[in-house]
Amino acid sequence: MQEIFKSIKRSAKRIHKAINFEDFGYCETKNCSGEKQLKLDVLSDNIIEEELSKVQSVKVLASEEKEKPIEVNESGKYLIGYDPLDGSSLVDVNLSVGSIFGIYENSFNGKDLVASAYVVYGPRVELVIASIKVERYVLRDNEFMFLEEISLNEKGKLNAPGGTQKEWFSFHKELIESLFKEGYRLRYSGGMVPDLHQILIKGGGLFSYPGAKDRPKGKLRKVFEVFPFANVFEKAGGYAIDDNGKRLLELNVNDMHETTPCFFGSKYEIDRVKEYYKEKDAKRA
Ligand code: AHG
Ligand code: MN
Ligand code: MN
Repeated sequence: MQEIFKSIKRSAKRIHKAINFEDFGYCETKNCSGEKQLKLDVLSDNIIEEELSKVQSVKVLASEEKEKPIEVNESGKYLIGYDPLDGSSLVDVNLSVGSIFGIYENSFNGKDLVASAYVVYGPRVELVIASIKVERYVLRDNEFMFLEEISLNEKGKLNAPGGTQKEWFSFHKELIESLFKEGYRLRYSGGMVPDLHQILIKGGGLFSYPGAKDRPKGKLRKVFEVFPFANVFEKAGGYAIDDNGKRLLELNVNDMHETTPCFFGSKYEIDRVKEYYKEKDAKRA
């Protein structure tokens, strides 16, 4: 596993350079979720594939940017699902973006995720690894230095509501409004990595990407985005559930690019989600 983290660190340094110096325009291609690909999406994907396939313990690599997983080492033990450049549509406006990694054994189902990590490319480059604990590192003089352990409080102050408000179901709107009425402050950049990182570092809050009228299954992908962050939140003492109140890490995967409604937060906010979503099916009808 340590070799995997070293390889993630090497990838992060190379992607950081690419973001700073390479062309950030679009390619002609779309990925299998039908999204336009940035040249940097493809470049970051290639960097990660090159680095992780060198690690003998890695058997399979699955990328958000590729339709199918690829086998890289027959005798390897781990399966890695990754989003090479999350929030890449924010690169042109110079907001923070990230890379997300889920490390799995046997299958890409939530229960088989054994560790995860993400990198934030912001004014600083930071790496968070959730293995037994959740550890935060910062890139200094080309090395990742340990900063602190991350743990969530029982209740936070931030509210990061994803999706298009016009398409929200009434119970979701009520949930979000109730938190604002309690004094929660809006924090949403449109990049899940910096948005979730902010909630983790500031001690708590809620990040939601709900199922809505236009996207009943939400937008965020289980294998590449949702499961890795669910692990980070749970290991930091928080919670990560779907719209049925089920732990995200108990969900299975039928299609590699499948999405799910998702809620990440500390105890208080996740209890509020459960309360407002209790009778959702009756209310949706
Ligand atoms: P990606 O750039 O990998 O396609 O993912 C972007 C994701 C995520 O970072 C963010 O939370 C969400 O898309 C934003 O979606 P909206 O534009 O619908 O808010
Ligand atoms: Mn993404
Ligand atoms: Mn992406």
